[in-house]
Amino acid sequence: MLLAQLSDTHVLDPASDEHRYVDNNGRLAQAIDALNAEAVAPEAVLATGDLVNSGPQPEYEALVSLFSELALPVLPIPGNHDDRDRLRAAFPQTPWADADHASWATTVGGLDIIGLDSIIPGKAGAEIDQPRAEWLASAIDAANGPVLLTLHHPPFRSGIEWMDASGFLGLDLLNDVLEQHSGVCRILCGHLHRPITSAIAGIPAQVGISTVQHIGLDFRSDASVTLINDPPGFTLHQFDLQADPSGATWSSHIRFTDTGESPYAPTRA
Ligand SMILES: [Fe+2]
Ligand SMILES: [Fe+2]
Repeated sequence: MLLAQLSDTHVLDPASDEHRYVDNNGRLAQAIDALNAEAVAPEAVLATGDLVNSGPQPEYEALVSLFSELALPVLPIPGNHDDRDRLRAAFPQTPWADADHASWATTVGGLDIIGLDSIIPGKAGAEIDQPRAEWLASAIDAANGPVLLTLHHPPFRSGIEWMDASGFLGLDLLNDVLEQHSGVCRILCGHLHRPITSAIAGIPAQVGISTVQHIGLDFRSDASVTLINDPPGFTLHQFDLQADPSGATWSSHIRFTDTGESPYAPTRA
């Protein structure tokens, strides 16, 4: 069972002049081409938030236009740069929960997947409030097998202070739900624009890379905001539910999309 994760695509209004540093929309188009060309097609693409850059309707129209080229189903969640109502409207096929937050639960290839809205409209930080904690608990309880949880904001401190500073309200509530409602085998996030692994409540948690700029890695407490041009790409998550029905057996791989061809072609041993 193969899932792809696109994150932090930050799509821009094509009419804007914000394409000054990298071509955000071109980067997503490149990633979509690479996803369509995967020799083993992923069963779905998790789009883990900050799908557009600032939330106006023309950005969502550009996002939908770009995703119309993707030959795979997409499961989006909002990030702090998104407008949750416009995101819902842009992807009407998503099994959105009947709730104020833009969350959903579905099953792909025998794996239950929950998309959890962690945003606070107008703010960079995260929040899991009581309604979202209760919705998550019931969604975990309703699952039949292992659960993959996706949310935009990582529920752990990264050590990159200027990113951590925006905070995560209700992190204790999320931790309590995960401790009291068993079944979540992995957590996938975005927001940090870097590949990072950690854990919460003993559950592995991972940040997928962005298709645009990445966050500079600087652990000094007074480090300034730094964006760097690491190679863009996406993450491929492989689950072997036949070998391990608990979902605890998995591997994750980064597919860089701008690396060129290797000049060396080894023969298979
Ligand atoms: Fe982002
Ligand atoms: Fe974000």
